[in-house]
Amino acid sequence: MSRLTTASTSVTEALQSRFSCRAFLDTPVPESDVKYLIETATRAPSGGNLQPWHMWAVQGEALKEFVADIKTKMADKPGGEGSEYHIYPPELKQPYDTRRRDIGERMYETLGIAREDRLGRLGQMARNFEFFGAPCAVFFALDKTMQEGQWSDMGMIIQSIMLLARERGLHSCPQEAWALWSPSIKSFLNIPDHMTFFCAMALGYADPDAAINQLESPRAPLDEVASFVGF
Ligand SMILES: Cc1cc2nc3c(=O)[nH]c(=O)nc-3n(C[C@H](O)[C@H](O)[C@H](O)COP(=O)(O)O)c2cc1C
Repeated sequence: MSRLTTASTSVTEALQSRFSCRAFLDTPVPESDVKYLIETATRAPSGGNLQPWHMWAVQGEALKEFVADIKTKMADKPGGEGSEYHIYPPELKQPYDTRRRDIGERMYETLGIAREDRLGRLGQMARNFEFFGAPCAVFFALDKTMQEGQWSDMGMIIQSIMLLARERGLHSCPQEAWALWSPSIKSFLNIPDHMTFFCAMALGYADPDAAINQLESPRAPLDEVASFVGF
């Protein structure tokens, strides 16, 4: 059974078949599916039931025009406009730095892009700003007054959407890279100044023939990330 073409029917299957999809078909996502995913995902828990999230789903011409606008801006500002938060800690310590480098190397290896091929790597990075060809995007923002706990609540609704997407045969890619274009995104979606734009999510049907979708990300072994006491 292929994770690329099969819908999932259990939470375990959804978890195991979800991956960060980086090549999509242009088949649009039915509006009813997008609404179902977001509405159902709002069952995600949040501390104090604050529900500190806001989401904007965009598809069709509106998304195409936005992508075209960013492409134009990238000519002047290849590094984007700047994010409102640190995407990673300024000093990424071990083992996190190694894990980050490792997934990058695996990605470029899957694509056959050599280490010294800087342009090739930049080109792949730039695919972020086309939502990897996805027809639909969801944007996430939260109030600036929110703290770490509420950022974690945000993660829960994002993961819920991604898992629900698997039930409908859809795939996704969460994208912090879009934080680099926060001012443009906030102006495009009329996100008020009192909110921080967190990330976007590409949503659609995986391109089963794309090499990049063969990438399988590793995980640290259980004893490295969890401790069990009293068993
Ligand atoms: C909040 C968040 C933001 C992410 N941002 C990006 C991104 O901007 N571009 C990208 O290609 N992948 C992005 N990823 C995907 C991660 O690289 C990916 O989750 C990780 O390597 C594990 O791989 P997997 O999702 O395929 O299991 C992001 C993931 C999360 C959770």
